[in-house]
Amino acid sequence: MFHGRFINRIVILTGAGISAESGLSTFRDADGLWEKHDPMEIATPEAFARDPALVYRFYNARRNQLPQVEPNDAHRALARLQQEFPGDVFLVTQNVDDLHERGGSAEVCHMHGELNSMLCAACESAMPAAADYDADSDCPGCGIRGRLRPDVVWFGEMPYHMEEIELRLMDCDLFVAIGTSGVVYPAAGFVQRALAHGALTVEVNKEVSDVTGFFHQQRKGPATREVAVLVEELLAG
Ligand code: APR
Repeated sequence: MFHGRFINRIVILTGAGISAESGLSTFRDADGLWEKHDPMEIATPEAFARDPALVYRFYNARRNQLPQVEPNDAHRALARLQQEFPGDVFLVTQNVDDLHERGGSAEVCHMHGELNSMLCAACESAMPAAADYDADSDCPGCGIRGRLRPDVVWFGEMPYHMEEIELRLMDCDLFVAIGTSGVVYPAAGFVQRALAHGALTVEVNKEVSDVTGFFHQQRKGPATREVAVLVEELLAG
């Protein structure tokens, strides 16, 4: 039981805030990535066509930062929930980092793609991005040069796995959003879908988000503290 309700199916949405305490910049906090770069100059197909070198540099740099940071207690708490909760836990993240996996999560739905993956526009395949790549790189799969791009969903592109996410939102008893500003759709609308189907909704954030009003509960504070407390409560049943 959790706040008087029987909880069997949980959907968890994470955003950049869950990785902030690991040392990865968020997008819209005071020192965020979009304070230093115009997202329209970096994270759109048009930006990539206009200045591919800038976009390759941005995503190569963010991928190269991953080995320098570690998952934090919030990532680890969610992995424990996935392992120990008797019901179903569906973890969907907007993050393109690998900290959920390195924190112990075996199943992670990356709706915005992953820094450690790259796409070839020639053979239309996704493959591990093991080293830096740019317009002079050959595809390891088809060998064609200059058609590789980050496997990251840019503004104006359709996020991955939306059908499965929709089904999970319609079917869950509990929806938890962690460390997301609720600014970017479709992820920002997930809470309303869950709410419309009768789910209990809980938000974990260090401050108010754009969609806080749709949550039954707002747990204000750092994700490393609040997620650990939430997971303990859920596992205590
Ligand atoms: N603990 C809890 N919440 C935190 C912490 C923390 N330590 N640090 C930051 N936050 C919260 C902020 O208050 C903010 O609400 O995390 C949120 C981060 O918001 P954004 O930077 O907008 O990141 P996110 O919501 O993941 O962005 C969504 O926008 O640019 C696109 O594709 C990109 O996936 C990204 C999407």
